[in-house]
Amino acid sequence: MKTVLVTGGAGYIGSHACKALKAAGYTPVTYDNLVTGWQDAVKFGPFEQGDLTDRARLDEVFAKHKPIAVMHFAALSQVGEAMSQPGKYWANNVGGSLNLIEAAVAAGCMDFVFSSTCATYGEHDNVVLDENTPQEPLNAYGASKRAVEDILKDFEAAYGLRSVIFRYFNVAGADPEAEVGEFHQPETHLIPLMIQAIKGERDALTVFGTDYDTPDGTCIRDYVHVCDLVDAHVLGLKWLEDGKGSQVFNLGTGSGFSVMEVIEHSRSVTNQEVPYNTGDRRAGDCTKLVSGSTRAIKDLGWEPSRSTLNEMIADAWRWHQSGHYDQ
Ligand SMILES: NC(=O)c1ccc[n+]([C@@H]2O[C@H](COP(=O)([O-])OP(=O)(O)OC[C@H]3O[C@@H](n4cnc5c(N)ncnc54)[C@H](O)[C@@H]3O)[C@@H](O)[C@H]2O)c1
Repeated sequence: MKTVLVTGGAGYIGSHACKALKAAGYTPVTYDNLVTGWQDAVKFGPFEQGDLTDRARLDEVFAKHKPIAVMHFAALSQVGEAMSQPGKYWANNVGGSLNLIEAAVAAGCMDFVFSSTCATYGEHDNVVLDENTPQEPLNAYGASKRAVEDILKDFEAAYGLRSVIFRYFNVAGADPEAEVGEFHQPETHLIPLMIQAIKGERDALTVFGTDYDTPDGTCIRDYVHVCDLVDAHVLGLKWLEDGKGSQVFNLGTGSGFSVMEVIEHSRSVTNQEVPYNTGDRRAGDCTKLVSGSTRAIKDLGWEPSRSTLNEMIADAWRWHQSGHYDQ
C-alpha cells in the first residue's frame, strides 16, 4: 500500500484526511506534536509523534515509512493569537514548514499537498476571490501561509518539488459516522462555538462586529464540509501522482453566509435557541470571504456533496452528541 505522511493528522482536518486516504487505499502516517491535536483522533494508520521543527525526527520518519507524498496540515491557525504573537506563527508555520519541505526533498518525496487558506487574500471589496486574486493577508496567520506557498514555488524551481496548494474557505461539519470531528481547545470556529453555547458548555456566543458592510452587518463566510474538503485532497494527491504538475485550488462552495444566517440555520437544525451577544470587531477579520472559483470542480473533478449549511451543522451537532476525545 502507498504511504502518505500526514502532518497534523491528529487535528480536525488531518484526521478526516486520514480516514479518506485509508478509504482510498493509502496508508496515512500521522506526524503530529499534539499541540492542538488528539492522539485519540489517530485511528486510520500509524502515529509518529514529532515536531515540524525537529529535522532529525522528520528524517527518521521519512526513512522509516518512505511516503510517496506529504499532506501538510500541521499549523497554528488562530487569527487572534497570530495578531498578538506573530513570531510564534512565523516560527511554527513558516520555519516548521521549511524544515518539513527540506526533509521531504532530501528523502526524494517530491509530491506535496499543502493546506493554505483564503486568509491569504485579505480584504477585496466586491471582488470574486479566485486563485489569481492578489494575496494581501491582513494577519500574520495568512502571511505565514502565503510564505509557505512561496517556499513551495522556489523549491519547485530549484529541485522539482511538485505541489497542490489548497486555499480553504471555512471548514465545518464532521465525519457523518462521528469517528472523528472538530475539537479545538480553545475553540474559535463559529459552528462548534454555537453548539457549545446551545449545550450550555460555554457562555453565550459572541458575534464579533455588527457594523460590517453586509446586509445584516455581520461577517460573511463560505463554509465547506470537511468531508468534501478532504475528498479534494485525495483528488489532489492523484493529480500529482498522474504527473499533472503543481496547481493552486480554492476550496469553497461559492455561497456566503453571514454569522446571523448561520445562527438562524443552527436554530432550525437543532431546534434550540442559540444564546448569543454582540461585541466589537476582532482585529484581522475580513468583511467577506467567498470563493468565486470552480477550478477544483472543473480540473480536479471535485464533487462537493455535503456542503449545505444544514448538513454541516447537523453533522457537527451529531459529533458533539457522541462525545469528544479524551483530554
Ligand atoms: N479549520 C479551518 O476552517 C481552516 C481554514 C483554512 C485553513 N486551515 C488549515 O488547515 C490545517 C488544519 O487545520 P485544523 O482546523 O485541522 O487545525 P488543528 O489545530 O485541528 O490541527 C492542526 C494539527 O497540527 C498539529 N501541529 C501544529 N503545529 C505542529 C508542529 N510544529 N509539529 C507537529 N504538529 C503540529 C497540531 O497538534 C494539530 O493536530 C491548518 O494548516 C490550518 O491552517 C484550516
